[in-house]
Amino acid sequence: MYNLMVNNKAVAVAEDRKLMDVLRNDCKLKSVKDGCSEGACGTCTILIDGKATKACVRKVSKLEGKSITTVEGLSDHEKEVYTYAFGEAGAVQCGFCIPGMVMCAKGLLDQNPNPTRDEIAFAIKNNICRCTGYKKIIDAIELAGKLLLEGRNDLKAAAITGIGQRAHRIDAAEKVLGYGEYVDDVELEGMIYGSAVRTPYPRARVLSVDAAKALALSGVRAVLTAADIPGDNKVGHLKKDWDTMIPVGEITRYVGDTVCLIAADTMEILEEAKKLVVIDYEELPGMFSPEEALQPDAPKIHETGNILAHEHLKRGDVETALSNSAFVVTQSYETPFTEHAFLEPECAIAIVDRENKEATIYSSDQGTYDTQHECAGMLGWSCEKIHVINKLVGGGFGGKEDVSVQHQAALLSYYTGCPVKVKLSRKESIMVHPKRHPAKMVFTTGCDENGYLTAIKAVVTTDTGAYASLGGPVLQRLCTHAAGPYNYQNIDIEGTAVYTNNPPAGAFRGFGVTQSCFASECNLNLLAQKVGISPWEIRYRNAIRPGQELPNGQIAAPGTALAATLEAVKDVFDSSPYAGIACAMKNAGVGVGIPDWGRARLTIEDGRIHIRSGASCIGQGLGTVLEQIVCETTGVTGEQVVYVPAETNLAPDSGTTSGSRQTLVTGEAARRACLDIKKDLEIVGTLDELNGKEYYGEYLAKTDPMGSSKKNPVSHVAYGYAAQVVILKEDGLIEKVVAAHDVGKAINPLSVEGQIEGGVVMSLGYALTEEYPLEQGKPLAKFGTLGLFHADKTPDVVSIIVEGNKDPLAYGAIGIGEITSIPTPSAVQGAYYKLDGCFRTKLPLMDTPYRKKK
Ligand code: FES
Ligand code: FES
Repeated sequence: MYNLMVNNKAVAVAEDRKLMDVLRNDCKLKSVKDGCSEGACGTCTILIDGKATKACVRKVSKLEGKSITTVEGLSDHEKEVYTYAFGEAGAVQCGFCIPGMVMCAKGLLDQNPNPTRDEIAFAIKNNICRCTGYKKIIDAIELAGKLLLEGRNDLKAAAITGIGQRAHRIDAAEKVLGYGEYVDDVELEGMIYGSAVRTPYPRARVLSVDAAKALALSGVRAVLTAADIPGDNKVGHLKKDWDTMIPVGEITRYVGDTVCLIAADTMEILEEAKKLVVIDYEELPGMFSPEEALQPDAPKIHETGNILAHEHLKRGDVETALSNSAFVVTQSYETPFTEHAFLEPECAIAIVDRENKEATIYSSDQGTYDTQHECAGMLGWSCEKIHVINKLVGGGFGGKEDVSVQHQAALLSYYTGCPVKVKLSRKESIMVHPKRHPAKMVFTTGCDENGYLTAIKAVVTTDTGAYASLGGPVLQRLCTHAAGPYNYQNIDIEGTAVYTNNPPAGAFRGFGVTQSCFASECNLNLLAQKVGISPWEIRYRNAIRPGQELPNGQIAAPGTALAATLEAVKDVFDSSPYAGIACAMKNAGVGVGIPDWGRARLTIEDGRIHIRSGASCIGQGLGTVLEQIVCETTGVTGEQVVYVPAETNLAPDSGTTSGSRQTLVTGEAARRACLDIKKDLEIVGTLDELNGKEYYGEYLAKTDPMGSSKKNPVSHVAYGYAAQVVILKEDGLIEKVVAAHDVGKAINPLSVEGQIEGGVVMSLGYALTEEYPLEQGKPLAKFGTLGLFHADKTPDVVSIIVEGNKDPLAYGAIGIGEITSIPTPSAVQGAYYKLDGCFRTKLPLMDTPYRKKK
């Protein structure tokens, strides 16, 4: 027996186990989050005798008599202070890292009540936050220290009143104090556990599966193969090409492929059972690059062949324009796979009633309705039989658009009749979900003698890995944005997405534009040099302005403010000796003629407006934004509004949280519903008088399809624009990043800043430190070796919000989620070019203080 004091209560543990297991499962202290179980992320941080420590790497046998403190054990005053400080600073996004950060803060502030910002950054240096870029977390801890010193006890977030307000996130308290539920925190009566047995070979024929020994193990409830799937084995976000399980006789496509699924009473039995399944394979040679997969004699990875998608965009006369150009540059570029590294690994719980054909799925994903469709198809049921409920989502960044565990949990529950939880280990998460596409790109850009752009020609190949995921649309956005946010019309962009036996690639913040922007923006610096003007000047001369025609033919909207973002960074660029600059544009909304609906259902219950929409909040703050729009439009305050997290029974389908679309499309749908509430309020006076009434709003973002014959097609309803400057110190370390973003209208400036800071830091990693190495299709990285930026090494990010859009649509808001990450790598590249004259063409950039030549 081992004896501990946990939050001042005696706890006895019979067997030696990991402290995190005891805290989460015996003590039910769910603020202790399991982000990696490897000691690499910090989400499980607690205090042991006052010292911040990771609970996942400590065994209770080494902690006899120790005093453990978790967020639940803070005093009421501390809880009030941390909730207020983190809310006020805008430090809470997905929230999965936050309880761990709070415990680091307490460990620091108890010893050092008035720390410097460097001391705070040092205290949280072992805790990863993938959302915030750390700045606002440091702000929050600094503020908490001040409030604790002042002994303040009158702390209350200001009520939400409307748009433009630096409102606290509505979910700040539950995330700071750890009582908000992520799927892994849900416990259900009779719940059992499920997991996948995956192929060790990227490409191998499955010859047989012998589950006899596993089934004989006491506590094993089911071992399932593809033959057990009642509906369609294939799932897939847009293209159904992804096997739920590889059937016997068929060929695997990557090392994440599932061959069988097991359900068992405990995690321990489950792991034991996985080892007892005997699978015979015939190993086959794999194809690990587009070049190999495109060989004429290459085996087909899918029946349709090895090319997933091809795009060829042509406008104007590129050849003539290039031959008439005063200056032309041609350069090859290469960008790598990137792992999303959201802090919450994939997890789902399914409760399936086979007899009555009803299923409930608790999920952590970017699209409740997508999960519903996928699970319905796999079970062979109609969609309305499947109820998907989003719990808190611990980050996504594009990596939670595809189903990963939801359908597996549903199938295991279908057969066992028990609630089944399937949670990916961090190793599985890194292996299984789609990554950012690697791209090889050759870009030719021309300009006249004054630096005015004339034409661009590009040839791009992306590695889309084993499955389509969103590889087609990602390639399309990569191509449609390849010419950048400039005023010229001769383009010839050709792109091909190729299947390989690598892990799949799909959506990742920036959706392909991060890749093409790196190439096109770096080429601009070469042209500027040839013309003899500065990198700022060439961008300013060409920057798209209202009424001008974008390279895709769309007329720039009246609110277009790219030039204003450039003006906002001019002084800092001009005054810094080693500065790099880059611009970007990014669509908000799906666009290109695809039906793109935002929907919201608002009901008046108990005198309060309840907001329901199937749109997932993945940490970006959609619930808060919708509340602000509701308050602005109806004139009520936040206390009279309830945001109900996304689900599929009562909330209408509002599409996927992707393409920076939700603030715009769901925000507009909510605004429209509120216009009716406002009218009724003007008649009856109070919400109480409207109890029981329901209001519905929807908005279709109508656009023209790819290849439209219109002279000036509308490809997207809105574009955001940005100019970012990266400033290096003499020693090559980054001093700061200044990021000016045309966001149309900032519904919540605090949240917008958080998106900018987080997006920039994520792409500093992409530019400088992150890697996802593969060996014959097998990922080698662990969470701790991905190269993510830590707080003590992260430079300052200065956000400048530019608001130029007067469009009434969603009050002028344009999505900000993705564009924040897009120009950063090119700006970093430009800064190093300035510093040492070496023109780097491959990410991550080599031979910098962040990464030495191997
Ligand atoms: S869960 Fe303990 S460090 Fe990641
Ligand atoms: S808020 Fe830190 S990981 Fe999401």
